[in-house]
Amino acid sequence: MESTKKFYVTTPIYYVTAQPHLGSLYSTLLADVLARWHKYNDKRVFFLTGTDEHGQKIAQAAQKAGKQPKEFVDGFINDYKHTWKQYDIEYDHFIRTTDEYHIRGAQQFVQKLIDNGYVYKSEYTGMYCTPCETFVIDENRVCPSCGRETVILSEETYFFKLSNFTDKLLEFYNNNPHFIVPKERFNEVIAFVKSGLKDLSISRTSVPWGVPFPGDSRHTVYVWVEALCNYITGIGYGQPGKEEELQTWWPADIHVIGKDIIKFHAVYWPALLMAAEMSLPKHILVHGWITVDKQKMSKSLGNVIDPLALQQKYGADSVRYYLLRQLSINQDGDFSIADLEQRIESDLANDLGNLLNRMVTVAHKYNLIQVSDKHEWSEASLALLDIHNTLMKEYVSYMNECLFHQALATMWKFINATNSYFHSQEPWKVAQSNPQLFEEIIAATCQSLHTIGELLAPIMPQKMSDLLASINDPSHAREGVFVLKKIPPLFEKPITMNTEVTQGDSSEKKELSSCITIDDLSKVELRVGTIEACSNVEGSDKLVAMTVDLGDQGKRTVLAGLKKYYTPDQLVGKRGLYVTNLKPRKMAGIESHGMMLIGEGDNGKPQLISAHDSVPNGARLR
Ligand code: MSP
Repeated sequence: MESTKKFYVTTPIYYVTAQPHLGSLYSTLLADVLARWHKYNDKRVFFLTGTDEHGQKIAQAAQKAGKQPKEFVDGFINDYKHTWKQYDIEYDHFIRTTDEYHIRGAQQFVQKLIDNGYVYKSEYTGMYCTPCETFVIDENRVCPSCGRETVILSEETYFFKLSNFTDKLLEFYNNNPHFIVPKERFNEVIAFVKSGLKDLSISRTSVPWGVPFPGDSRHTVYVWVEALCNYITGIGYGQPGKEEELQTWWPADIHVIGKDIIKFHAVYWPALLMAAEMSLPKHILVHGWITVDKQKMSKSLGNVIDPLALQQKYGADSVRYYLLRQLSINQDGDFSIADLEQRIESDLANDLGNLLNRMVTVAHKYNLIQVSDKHEWSEASLALLDIHNTLMKEYVSYMNECLFHQALATMWKFINATNSYFHSQEPWKVAQSNPQLFEEIIAATCQSLHTIGELLAPIMPQKMSDLLASINDPSHAREGVFVLKKIPPLFEKPITMNTEVTQGDSSEKKELSSCITIDDLSKVELRVGTIEACSNVEGSDKLVAMTVDLGDQGKRTVLAGLKKYYTPDQLVGKRGLYVTNLKPRKMAGIESHGMMLIGEGDNGKPQLISAHDSVPNGARLR
């Protein structure tokens, strides 16, 4: 995407019939990451989000709740604002379509369409989908988009001459091949427009809860037309004295939307803007849908994920990271607690958090607090720098293309390269014999962590600020010096999988992954083994590395967090139980090929679980 000095990003405005859910969080999060990324790249940024509060759907929900529409929507606004705050969403303005300035601005926009000769009055009869607020083409009385029942609606209406814009839109698409990101979504839009556009009904007499149509108050403005106007009314359109603001920010650089509302943004909105003689948004970023355990989120299934529950249990930054890393923007993606916990444990706690912790711990152990980054770099350090340069270029380019999951995959390649460097250099072995080399290894690792902290900050603002503070306390740092400070572990490993994170009444709630079946259990291979040899893992506070004899299964290396409680001598010869079919996992640079079962004793000390002497090494538990 081209570089300009300003960056204006928007989210869809959300229908306020309930609290925000994971889908709304996802759209908003993408916009927040973009806003932060472009700020980091020295742009002046404006980030708009808000709520879509008019229309039949809202009026019906309010009626069901026994409230007036405005009173009903008012009740949810704080839920939105609070949720965004908990997730560190740094928007500049929160627009509500019931705000006076928006209503006036939307009316002025429609008046402009009328003045320019693009609106006429006629009669419309068609199948109408109330939940989607739209007339649809359907044969079976169900909405092709949401699958719900449609009704026949006949009414006097004002039409917008959308059909006039078929060729102009196609020409615009042709001249702006990056208008829709990712480009895979462009074809469906082009095909839709090529099939011929019909004029669009833009007023309703049947929906009183809306913006009065200019010059004819028996009609209200079609809620989608009014809602789309938020992107300009939110930055001053229609407000005297705000012309400069509008001029500064419009056109939007990116509208972030879900795939279900692409037609409104990529076809209707550009046509409306052309008719009003305004410039068109530069890009529309279209994301896929989130499913939960492969199913659509819905109240009736009780699987609507509550972003606040997730944040309370796992922390905002871990959820932010997970959503961007796990879901590929151009596809639908499945949310699961197991995947989330796996990402936190493996990517965040093990790969990143431990790297920082081990580096600072070993530096402190040998009294290295201030680290100069001026060194005659050794070959290994230069090789790391090379990897840094190549991978970070790739990262930046993925971020600019909004391919966040690929950017993060690239970043983790670099984190792992830094981990390998740190372990292969074994700084603990040279700390006393070669202090210069020791400082160089710590400095090179710090430099990597510094880049990681800065480039990941748009994704995990809080945690990366903690990380940077741990290597570079600004109040002490001089140019070219890292100041190392011990901090609590950057990421906590999740404790349990039994987590209540769905929205709704408790009677509707479901526990995700709280029970396993006998088939699940039979997948776990548990065997008896004896510790044949054991040593402390250098650079780690917790780990010991053991050679475990598993009888006819052979011998293997298993790591366990026992260092604080046992010396290696105390462990050699002990019998224990092991999970032997776990995927090997690298910790502190050593691959562990199994997991020892440990029970916590009275005093919190881990105790090995032993087997009867008559059960030989390698025997499988059933
Ligand atoms: N009010 C309209 C947007 C008007 S913009 C001028 C609307 N609101 S919505 O609340 O129904 O949806 C808002 C956004 O949330 C859409 O981008 C939609 O794609 C997104 N999501 C809603 N559920 C979702 C998932 N399950 N997964 C991902 N995003 C989804 O449409």
